[in-house]
Amino acid sequence: MRRLVPVPTEASVSVDFEGESVPARQGEPVAVSLLAAGHAVLSRSIKYHRPRGPFCLAAACSHCLMRVDGTPNLYACQVPARAGLQLQRQNSYPSAKVDVFHAIDWLFPGGLDHHAMFAGVPVAERVMVKVARHLAGLGLLPDGVPPQRQPPEVLQTPVAIAGGGAAGLAAAEVLSAAGVPFVLLEREEALGGRWRLGPPEAGAPATLTVGAQAGTVRLHTTVLGLYSDGRGRFLAAVATGRDAPRLLLVRAPRFLLALGGHAQLLPFIDNDLPGVFAGRAVSDLVRRRGVLPAEAPAVVGHGPELRGLVQLLTDAGARPALVLDTGPSPEAGALSGRVLEAHGRGRVQALSVEVSRRTKKKVSCDAVVLALPPTPAYEVACHAGAHTVFRPELGVFAVQADADGRTAAEGVYVAGDALGGTTAALAADSGRRAARALVREVAA
Ligand code: FES
Repeated sequence: MRRLVPVPTEASVSVDFEGESVPARQGEPVAVSLLAAGHAVLSRSIKYHRPRGPFCLAAACSHCLMRVDGTPNLYACQVPARAGLQLQRQNSYPSAKVDVFHAIDWLFPGGLDHHAMFAGVPVAERVMVKVARHLAGLGLLPDGVPPQRQPPEVLQTPVAIAGGGAAGLAAAEVLSAAGVPFVLLEREEALGGRWRLGPPEAGAPATLTVGAQAGTVRLHTTVLGLYSDGRGRFLAAVATGRDAPRLLLVRAPRFLLALGGHAQLLPFIDNDLPGVFAGRAVSDLVRRRGVLPAEAPAVVGHGPELRGLVQLLTDAGARPALVLDTGPSPEAGALSGRVLEAHGRGRVQALSVEVSRRTKKKVSCDAVVLALPPTPAYEVACHAGAHTVFRPELGVFAVQADADGRTAAEGVYVAGDALGGTTAALAADSGRRAARALVREVAA
């Protein structure tokens, strides 16, 4: 783990990590600062107190929940670093590094059903309930009173777009060119999604723009769901950025949901060890943050992201210890097989795999990078009334839609990885098709 680019003096700050001063770059997520400083364990799991480190860097896995300046359960992968920020790991005793409750994991290798423990044994049952109540929950109450909530902001638009990745951005360009006003909500600090942060892909545009800006783009804005009330339907989102979080309601008759997908995890023993990373988290670390997460990673997965990640890591100076294609139709000449087990105390140190002809091998490595197509983010679409369908060729459930992205929910279109992740170019194509259909609807 090392920084590829030194932090410039004017951006250099220190955060307080349980009494230790950790150097950071102003504004980068504190999970990145801690990783760059060699801290792999940021939290402990709730029940078995297994060590947890960042996996997705996208507020989706909960492996990085920390107490920040007295507020519990914040995603360290989303908290910007600033001088003096107080970071504490939670859910452990006496410390997350050496947690005595980790013994639960050793004592119950087959799992522990605390609901059934000592049930029916009068005194023991009462003691067990007391212990379970004491151990349950995550974090302690905040130190201070939360800031007063601001009233929600309300916007009205003909078309609301959720997600500013390849699909949402391509759709915005089509709408802009046709002069159709829209509001686009993007969780990140900039548009582009994996074009900007993912493993480099062929056909990625050199620059990212939103055409003639017929629309309003809101960055740092996370979509929560698509709701309806007496005045119609609206996207509910939380806007963050520099100010305190504020609820944003975007009212519209038509919606394009281009929310991408979630990082997939392969099933293998100890796949939750710190040092197991989602591929897009790794490309984000290298491309945006200038941090190389491993010198000798095992890169496993399939599809275009596998090749792209190996190239990205190699160009950044890493020497992959293993490249394994786990897909159903591996490329000619690729080492193929499946992952069996990750090894290490507190973080990944080796990986066991089964390769062709049932040969097992154990490879020393300092990280495991899972380069897999994302699992479609269908939640908001289903919330709005769309249906899902199983895509056997991808092995995922995706939103069911026609060729233009039209779903079973009236006025709700879907584009990009939510239809089944393939390439950024195909995601952009689906965004353009949906936008053209929306242009026709608005004009009708
Ligand atoms: S939620 Fe922060 S790393 Fe996954």
